[in-house]
Amino acid sequence: MLTTRLASYGADYVPMFLVAGLAIYFAMHWRNNLRNIPGPPSSSWTFGNMLQLLLPPQYGDHEFTWLEEFGPVYLVKGCFGQNRLMISDHLALQHILNSSCFEHGPALTNLADLVLDQNAVMAVKGETHRRLRAALNVGFTPSAVRNYQPIFERVAEKITERLDKCSGSLTDLYPILSHAALNAISEAVLGCSTRDLGEAFVANNERVMLLASSQSSTLIVADAIGSLLPNMVRRAAMHFPTATFKVLRAVKSLAHQIGRRAIAEKLAAIQQGSNTRTDVFDMLLDPEQSDTKKNVLTEEELVAQTGTLMIDTQNFKINYERKSMRHSVVHPALPLMRETLRLHPPGPLQERIAVQDTVIPLTDGIKNSKGELINHIPVQKGQVVLVAIASYQRLRSRWGEDAHQFRPSRWLDGTVVQGQALGPYANLLSFLGGPRVCPGWRFAILEMQVFFSELVGEFSFAILEDDSIRARLANTLISVTPSGEKAAPFYITRI
Ligand code: HEM
Repeated sequence: MLTTRLASYGADYVPMFLVAGLAIYFAMHWRNNLRNIPGPPSSSWTFGNMLQLLLPPQYGDHEFTWLEEFGPVYLVKGCFGQNRLMISDHLALQHILNSSCFEHGPALTNLADLVLDQNAVMAVKGETHRRLRAALNVGFTPSAVRNYQPIFERVAEKITERLDKCSGSLTDLYPILSHAALNAISEAVLGCSTRDLGEAFVANNERVMLLASSQSSTLIVADAIGSLLPNMVRRAAMHFPTATFKVLRAVKSLAHQIGRRAIAEKLAAIQQGSNTRTDVFDMLLDPEQSDTKKNVLTEEELVAQTGTLMIDTQNFKINYERKSMRHSVVHPALPLMRETLRLHPPGPLQERIAVQDTVIPLTDGIKNSKGELINHIPVQKGQVVLVAIASYQRLRSRWGEDAHQFRPSRWLDGTVVQGQALGPYANLLSFLGGPRVCPGWRFAILEMQVFFSELVGEFSFAILEDDSIRARLANTLISVTPSGEKAAPFYITRI
């Protein structure tokens, strides 16, 4: 999954486009029609509140305090004085996610367009998006996903074998689980092993993951500038001979090669009547499925999805809550997994932009800075809003007074929020909702369920001390050590 930034490559063109970016920004984006919406003060014009929001020692250090202070809608400053609405209000999110008034924000559009493919489902809009989504869904129906279970079980057994070798020692779970996730995704999406992907793809993919998990104040500014540049300039920048762009170009082109090869092999097998496999690409190419559907992907369109499905989706989460790891045996897998997804959604903030003037309705209303109760907020075309998934999943009004606590038993004792859901799964918004809802959510749930059940049943996991790992936002929510290194070190013991 990708979030709202160009972090991995933005730094390369900071100096080159700083002036151009700022000029365009001032010409097109500076508005202050939201001045009466309360929000935290900002002491920096360059960064606004972005360092507090995106770079605190622990994700949410400021965001969750602001949530308590200002409620589910408040104003934060983006870079260069930009106004951004932070939104975790149910009705407001329903409008933003489901109406055609909002689309992906500029940073996410650029990232999907440049790093994935201009025709990737995440990059396309409008009718093309609807058609691609309808076609892709064939590979992610409940029955399609059930077919992937044996793959997940085989991969889980391999993780167990690796962890057996680490039993009794301090082990970083990241490389083990990342490798497992890549294994599962290549088998289930393309029907091939990681070895078939080729060493070059695997090596480049690791570099992309490394780039994607870096975060700094320079990259935050680079994101802000990059998202202001016209498409043409950004696409041209991708051809600069810098190390970062080289990695990104390589992984994109390797993903295309792998997609083309897989499609050619599958079509040949279909022609010979020997295609018995049931991975995602098989289903999307299946003539029987296609004949009955209007929403067929062309071969080139399918090739364009390879990167999205392979690169963007393999960040298997290690956001296990520390207390749960100590007492892992007492918790069944499902409540443990749901509570992890609730408190540590992998993509806690998603950026959207209003593509026309609109009015955002509010559930209970908020007090503006004059003390007046307002129950809707008019916004103008071009207004950026942040879908605050992590905040939404910590609203006391929805989850109760212990909303910030990790308590898996809430999923068993009937105290979880009931009623209208925005997202597809367990009243959570981790997979978003509306037309852009994650198509892979059933896939991800089953994969995590199989991995969790296998690991939690066989091993106990303990951390060194309470702050030895923290959640940090770097493309997705990752765990880092106090020195900021991406790692998930646990003492692993065979039960
Ligand atoms: C825990 C695992 C996952 C989480 C939390 C997650 C979350 C998300 C979120 C929040 C989005 C919306 C991004 C946006 O529009 O702002 C998204 C989109 C997407 N996800 Fe996932 N995802 C996960 C796993 C997967 C898997 C396993 C697949 C496929 C095998 C997948 C495929 C996609 C695709 C193709 C999109 C783009 C959809 C579109 O733009 O219409 N995801 N995901």
